[in-house]
Amino acid sequence: MVANIASSSPTSISFKPFEVEAKPAGTNLQGALDVKSEYFIGDFLRLHGEKIGRGDDVRQIITYHADNNDWSIKAECKEQLLNKLLAVVKGGDEQIHNRVFLDVIRDWYHGLDAGSKIENAVVAADHLNAKGQSIARMIVEANHKLGQGSDSIRLLDVGGNDGKLTSYVASHVSDYSGSPVHPYVLEVETGVSWDHNCHEVSTAHNVKNQPVKTIYYDGHDMSSGRVSGEDSSNPLSDGLGFDCAMYQHSLHHFPSPEIQQQSLAQIASLLKEGGVLTISEHSSALGGHELDLMHMVTEVYSDLHRDPEMSGAELESRYNAYVAKEAPANYFSQTRLLDMAQKVGLTPSSSTSISEKAERTYSMTFVKTDVANLNRDRSLEALLDPEALKAVSAKYQTSPVGGLMRSLDGGY
Ligand SMILES: C[S@@+](CC[C@H](N)C(=O)[O-])C[C@H]1O[C@@H](n2cnc3c(N)ncnc32)[C@H](O)[C@@H]1O
Repeated sequence: MVANIASSSPTSISFKPFEVEAKPAGTNLQGALDVKSEYFIGDFLRLHGEKIGRGDDVRQIITYHADNNDWSIKAECKEQLLNKLLAVVKGGDEQIHNRVFLDVIRDWYHGLDAGSKIENAVVAADHLNAKGQSIARMIVEANHKLGQGSDSIRLLDVGGNDGKLTSYVASHVSDYSGSPVHPYVLEVETGVSWDHNCHEVSTAHNVKNQPVKTIYYDGHDMSSGRVSGEDSSNPLSDGLGFDCAMYQHSLHHFPSPEIQQQSLAQIASLLKEGGVLTISEHSSALGGHELDLMHMVTEVYSDLHRDPEMSGAELESRYNAYVAKEAPANYFSQTRLLDMAQKVGLTPSSSTSISEKAERTYSMTFVKTDVANLNRDRSLEALLDPEALKAVSAKYQTSPVGGLMRSLDGGY
């Protein structure tokens, strides 16, 4: 059978429909769901959308492109896309090539009228500010004395991208603590656009603070860091240390659990005594596959937003490049993060709750100090007791189907 999906939307350009042989039934869905497979999107939709009845999670993934970004697409249009994608997998057992789904997305996007795309710059600015404020609160609440005894607070944002969120966090840390903040982003040059970040939103300006500086490094050895535009300066090895550090949805991009652990060890050694580390990550009811797909679909939306007339072949090649570079990401549960952080001598101080929703996030905050010095958040008791955590999360568990579950190391 040939899968042939033509555009059902009115377009001014005629895209040549992509034709590819579907694989016969029975060759998949008994083995592991493979994010690198050229049949991954269809396998995922069939498994999660139909077989294990997690339609709501599939909906969240496909309709994810955040409404608090500086542009978004009307919810009902995303719902139409979801139905088009599910229609492709319904009624057959054969595997369908990713390209078929990418063509559906491209044709859908191309057929959207101007009123379906929403400019959200004001909402995005408010969102970034609110997010920055809540991260700053987590940091300052973990150590009320942050910055006392020195002229300024040094903040390091690992994987901080364009530094916009960093600047908002720094601004609020400064307001809460009364001290000026020197914010730094630590980044790698990956070539991935992360285009869904807020373009139209400007950096927060707080007169007390220094502008954000970006340190580029090789991705694991912090001594390789160099401040962008400065030849030799490396604040990671100048011996001054940092008062606080954060990873916002960046630690799962590190290439292996060992490198994640090494990164935490290096950050722990950079923190001053009493220094605070806060980490936000995705939680997941289903495991890592839907998080990978969610990221990939978001990249596809961004590619199309940048170049709506991109050919199917080009979109496929961008998708494949993204998958080759970024997937599968190394997601981890809160239980594992707790373990990784404690191994490097950090004491947990607070945690936000877990969630059954595919795209929800959790945050955990740690302090470089002895547990006796901490006035901890009560919600942490569940995290310190693995049995209690299991009981809380049990209600979100789905039954594994064959070998298809990729759990976040058995937790959330
Ligand atoms: C999803 S983005 C998050 C950006 C930003 N923290 C935010 O919340 O908007 C993930 C970031 O992690 C960065 N990253 C990936 N591997 C890294 C590594 N080994 N060290 C530092 N940053 C890394 C990527 O370049 C990217 O900017």
